[in-house]
Amino acid sequence: MSPLLFALPGNEAPAQRLATLRGWPLGQLETRRFPDGESYARFLTDVQGRQVVLVCTLDDPDQKAIALYLVACIARELGAARVGLVAPYLAYMRQDMQFKPGEGISSAHFAGLLSGCVDWLVTVDPHLHRIDSLDRIYRIASRVVPAAPAIAAWIKASVAQPLLIGPDAESEQWVAQVAQAIGCPYTVLSKVRRGDHEVEVSVPAVAQWRHCTPVLVDDIASTARTMMAAVAQLHGLGLLAPVCVAVHPIFAGDAYAQLASAGVARIASCNTIAHASNQIDLAEPLSRAVETLL
Ligand code: R5P
Repeated sequence: MSPLLFALPGNEAPAQRLATLRGWPLGQLETRRFPDGESYARFLTDVQGRQVVLVCTLDDPDQKAIALYLVACIARELGAARVGLVAPYLAYMRQDMQFKPGEGISSAHFAGLLSGCVDWLVTVDPHLHRIDSLDRIYRIASRVVPAAPAIAAWIKASVAQPLLIGPDAESEQWVAQVAQAIGCPYTVLSKVRRGDHEVEVSVPAVAQWRHCTPVLVDDIASTARTMMAAVAQLHGLGLLAPVCVAVHPIFAGDAYAQLASAGVARIASCNTIAHASNQIDLAEPLSRAVETLL
């Protein structure tokens, strides 16, 4: 029997796309907030004995997590055979160690919350850095969809003579894969983050690639300060205006406007979070990953 897909609020378009791609039915879910801010959820489609797939990308997680937790628990309460989660952006992955005394490993605690309410998880390139696998913190089955093939295809079709640049050590895993798929050069900078909005990156050694179009590739663009610091270094070297590519376009506050006015040629992102910069569609590999868990 086909799985039943349900979109959490704001995820209607990606859920519809997954349903259409695979011919899976979309169920109806009523959600709203009570006047006191608590979440209300009601399944309008019977989930008894069904494989339920919840679609909920997890940017702005503190606004979304409790509703998602309740919806998943209610699906189980109503007799769903299994409950899976498609969260193209998986939040809380960056606090993966105690950076300062008194902190905790939030990524593990958030993983505990999700592992307690769903049976499996599909996501796109989670920020795996000091933790090298989701299995280290998630107690449930998971599949990671790599964005690199789709990003490589987009760059190949959209940018002449690209030179890929990763703004920090963590980005090497994505940049190296994308560069290999395209067959173009890449370099990785080193970054020091002094605060949420204070970022310094090293000067790229790109003398031999001056004729190339720099393409900055990073997994997350949040404040976009990492991208902007790299853009400033490229300008200082007199390179062409860079193209910026983000897997997860969070673009908090006015970050997108700031990056757009920092002298970039173009900004593109994967559609893991709905955003004006979305150019790279990951629905097909996401739906294939879901199929492996049904
Ligand atoms: C950091 O480790 C990530 O790979 C990104 O570079 C970082 O999250 C970007 O953050 P922001 O856009 O706030 O500089």
